[in-house]
Amino acid sequence: MRTHAEIVGWGKHVPSKVLTNSDLESMLDTSDEWIKTRTGISERRIAAAKETSATMASRAAFAALEVADLSPNKIDLIIAATSTPDHLMPSTASLIQDSIGATNAGAMDINAACSGFVYALSVGSGLIAGGSHQNVLVIGTDTMSRILDYTDRGTSVLFGDGAGAVVLRATEDVTGVLSSSLGSDGSGAHLLWIPGGGARHPASLETVQNRMHYIKMNGNEVYRFAVNVMTKASLQVVKDAGLTLDDIELFIPHQANIRIIQSAAKSLKVPIEKIFTNVERYGNTSAASVPIALCEAIEQGRVKAGEHIVLVAFGAGLTWAATVIRWGVPAVAPRLPWWKAILHRFRGQEAAAKSLARRTGRKIPR
Ligand code: ACO
Repeated sequence: MRTHAEIVGWGKHVPSKVLTNSDLESMLDTSDEWIKTRTGISERRIAAAKETSATMASRAAFAALEVADLSPNKIDLIIAATSTPDHLMPSTASLIQDSIGATNAGAMDINAACSGFVYALSVGSGLIAGGSHQNVLVIGTDTMSRILDYTDRGTSVLFGDGAGAVVLRATEDVTGVLSSSLGSDGSGAHLLWIPGGGARHPASLETVQNRMHYIKMNGNEVYRFAVNVMTKASLQVVKDAGLTLDDIELFIPHQANIRIIQSAAKSLKVPIEKIFTNVERYGNTSAASVPIALCEAIEQGRVKAGEHIVLVAFGAGLTWAATVIRWGVPAVAPRLPWWKAILHRFRGQEAAAKSLARRTGRKIPR
């Protein structure tokens, strides 16, 4: 019998500081009206000085482990998807591993930009299906505010910070990740990139003066690419799972731009009610976008046991990724005793994270 990877825990963390479109109006030549009509974004979250991709991810991870009722030392592997790592080396996943006390886990980062979480989910579920891993923590985390040029109105209005995490567990049931598709077209690398700071242009006075450590993007090209691959990848994974689009109850796309999401929905002929969006409140949080949206969809009761969901994303690379998941557990984790499940529902994610951290003797990163 084939082993599957089911999602048994989920968590998110977003910084408390809100940057609204009207705040941006006072920083840049832009307007609330332009940003809302062209992107659907009203506000985004910005990390505090001490917050990083690792600290936000650790909070999201604690929350996910609490829902899964799993001790951090039972995790075999942590995969952190990020393109804004705390350092080029070591991996952000290693920092998270230490922070949450996952003493028996391996740790590695994946960089597929905004597609990163769906890439990481595919890798994690593949390792579980292969039999070498039982419990894998998959995280998407990005601190985009640290790589944004707040003098560039074409990019700085689009992005925000945050993290989302899921716990994958091996199961013999035909549930969890049913199919995945990963893609890349590196000929579009220069359409969305950070030119400086790597091996080609290491940090120097010149790279700093030329603002080469900030994200650069050709928005129109990325837009066209995004609609095309979101449609193509969604169709592919649904077919690979032996399903049709009618079998999918919910689509959770990468939250980059409401117009991209609407165009992809139109091209797939999927009613907009079947598509989850929260881009209005967070902007594009890159690798964190899909897991944050998944968490909120669960919190809002939009994901039910036995239903099929498609996660689909695109990003720098240019990359794309999609997966079909058959949801296996009720939205209130069934493995928790009833009193804990109710407490979790009322206390929310932050309190769940704190509770697990306290029990395991760890400090919640600030
Ligand atoms: N405020 C006001 N005006 C602006 C702003 C702004 N923030 N940004 C651009 N403009 C202006 C432009 O200068 C241009 O002015 P001009 O006509 O005088 O030259 C005009 O608005 C139209 O610009 P376009 O770029 O054609 O606007 P468009 O409708 O294409 O929207 C956008 C731009 C929102 C960037 C869109 O192209 C888009 O969403 N692209 C996809 C981007 C994306 O999803 N990136 C994330 C990828 S995921 C990852 O891996 C990070």
